[in-house]
Amino acid sequence: MLVNHQQYRTIWPNFDGEIPFVEIIDQTKLPHVFEIAKISSLQQMITAIKTMQVRGAPLIGAAAAYGIALAALESSSDMHLKDSAVQLVASRPTAVNLRWAVQRMLDKIFPLPIEDRQQGAWGEASAICDEDVLLNQAIGTHGLDLIRQQHQQKSRTINILTHCNAGWLATVDFGTALAPIYAAHDAGIDVHVWVDETRPRNQGASLTAWELGQHGVPHTVISDNAGGHLMQQGKVDMVIVGADRVTGTGDVCNKIGTYLKALAAFDSAAFGHEVPFYAAVPSPTIDWGLDDGAKQIEIEERHADELVWMSGRLASGEVATVNILPHGTRVANPAFDVTPARLVTGIITEQGVFAPHQLNMMQRVHS
Ligand code: MRU
Repeated sequence: MLVNHQQYRTIWPNFDGEIPFVEIIDQTKLPHVFEIAKISSLQQMITAIKTMQVRGAPLIGAAAAYGIALAALESSSDMHLKDSAVQLVASRPTAVNLRWAVQRMLDKIFPLPIEDRQQGAWGEASAICDEDVLLNQAIGTHGLDLIRQQHQQKSRTINILTHCNAGWLATVDFGTALAPIYAAHDAGIDVHVWVDETRPRNQGASLTAWELGQHGVPHTVISDNAGGHLMQQGKVDMVIVGADRVTGTGDVCNKIGTYLKALAAFDSAAFGHEVPFYAAVPSPTIDWGLDDGAKQIEIEERHADELVWMSGRLASGEVATVNILPHGTRVANPAFDVTPARLVTGIITEQGVFAPHQLNMMQRVHS
């Protein structure tokens, strides 16, 4: 996607020097500073995933793939690669793309002779990235049809609510939930996005608003608690979110707060407003072996500091971090929740839009 008119992906390899390394957009610095960070070891990639310099399920997968490639530079032995895989998979528990990408990398390089493993690893990591872009573009196309249908029916601006950041910053490029919105905007369809700020890390306010702004898509940031009210008022035509893990039966695990949006969308019918709830999901994010998300998906509990401290820019332009809680306050910080399939209208995949119970009609090319 474009940043100040220059094309970027969120992650890319650098082969300019003697030893390859990886470059990322450091998302902890956005929206106030656009900074490229250099990642030149397995441990640096693990830190980048844990501290969320890179985040979003598909991008976490791509980063883990490059993590294996960086590990292969250190040693291409079975033991080192297996140990590196275990460390990478342990860096964050909820997004299934992490495990999926690491397994795919090992399946690719273990059959190779030691001397070919480095090249095999960098090649496969790049293939995973290129495929991610194609999957998201296809999601954009299928989601565009849903927006276009609403636009044809209503002949006015279509208001779409989204939660967290499932845009190009959360993937290698194009995004998942935002891909249909970019496609609609680029097709000349009037869209406006309600952007949940998404406490406690504000992925909506700091990342989604930033990337929609870069692309010129009209949007409004709202508090996480405002969405239900706007739906009751008929100011939301549809909800599109991303996902970190989807069960084979269509339960959707995404950023904490998503479940509440699904409940509000469902209840909007009582106020005379149909608000379909969609999750945009590339198939590597589907965990086919699961059938009960609320029971089976591990929800990451993140550090209390994410709620205690808040970063922002001072009037002087300086970025500062302040404590917003009374000293010694107890904090809990679950990072994701599960929306049961019964509240999901459809799952927008690269193969089309499926009702949750129809997911098993998909071809399993990425299982
Ligand atoms: O904690 P994060 O920022 O990694 O959470 C990200 C989300 O919940 C996204 O909605 C999800 O990963 C989909 S990204 C296309």
